[in-house]
Amino acid sequence: MKKDFLDIIDYSSEELTSMLDLAIELKKEWKAGGNKPVLKNKTLALIFQKPSLRTRISFEMGMRHLGGDALYISPNEIGLGQREAVSDVARVLAGYVDGIMARVFAHEHVVELAKWADIPVINGLSDYSHPCQAMADALTIIEKFGNKKGLNVTFVGDGNNVAVSLMQISAKLGWNFTIANPPKYDMPAESIEACKKVAAQTGSKLTFLTDPHEAVRGAQVIYTDTWTSMGQEAEAKEREQVFPPYQVNARLVSEADKDVIVMHCLPAHRNHELTDEVADGPHSVIFPQAHNRMHAQKAILVKLMG
Ligand code: CP
Ligand code: NVA
Repeated sequence: MKKDFLDIIDYSSEELTSMLDLAIELKKEWKAGGNKPVLKNKTLALIFQKPSLRTRISFEMGMRHLGGDALYISPNEIGLGQREAVSDVARVLAGYVDGIMARVFAHEHVVELAKWADIPVINGLSDYSHPCQAMADALTIIEKFGNKKGLNVTFVGDGNNVAVSLMQISAKLGWNFTIANPPKYDMPAESIEACKKVAAQTGSKLTFLTDPHEAVRGAQVIYTDTWTSMGQEAEAKEREQVFPPYQVNARLVSEADKDVIVMHCLPAHRNHELTDEVADGPHSVIFPQAHNRMHAQKAILVKLMG
């Protein structure tokens, strides 16, 4: 098992499955009255270069439920790579806390933190990937369908950090992953190449399309995310012109499997990438999905810091 949780692709299918099994157990235990304090006296620093609702609170509450403590560090503090070198921040923090979760712009910053800190580092979203989200997504999908090879997971929208991590976990678990994105909004080529190798071993089928209607045919999962991610605000206007054909609305959902679930990592820009009708409709699992962030991350924390 790796020291850090930076990307889904760094973990084997078996390790990921075992973490997801633990998440299910910890969720059951918590619902039955509370978790055992297996992280008693452990502390986690939460470094944020970007805002957050889910990531911050699910990690804080997750640590608290497991008997540990978490410290929120806002975007105004530390000045990662600006006020102070990332390598120095890593080595200083490692003397105070037992783990670091970091939400950053440049993915290299979490890699650098992990390199220099001799304690676990968790990627709480970078411009490249969002692995904790993917664990919660997989947990949500498994709760609905079981962990069955050959599930059809379709992402509609921008080939962004959330899409990359969802592709990675789909490939690892033997699920078929399809994305429909506008031309020029592809996922990074290197992430696709790496996942193709994983998919060849697990029997997962990866499909890259531009037509959302073709992409949702036979889908058991339709997933979407914002058209403009944090840090891309200057492109928002242009993106609002390009992405409307990729809106997840009732018509698109009606073209998928009849038992399809609709997912979104949140925050949602309602009636842009996802209509109210779908977000609040019978196929939507967006709130249980958000709640599963905490359960999935508890498993990551226990595996890394327990
Ligand atoms: N999905 C997610 O990471 O949400 P936050 O940005 O609110 O943490
Ligand atoms: N793709 C989005 C996800 C937010 C949780 C972003 O990076 O802003």
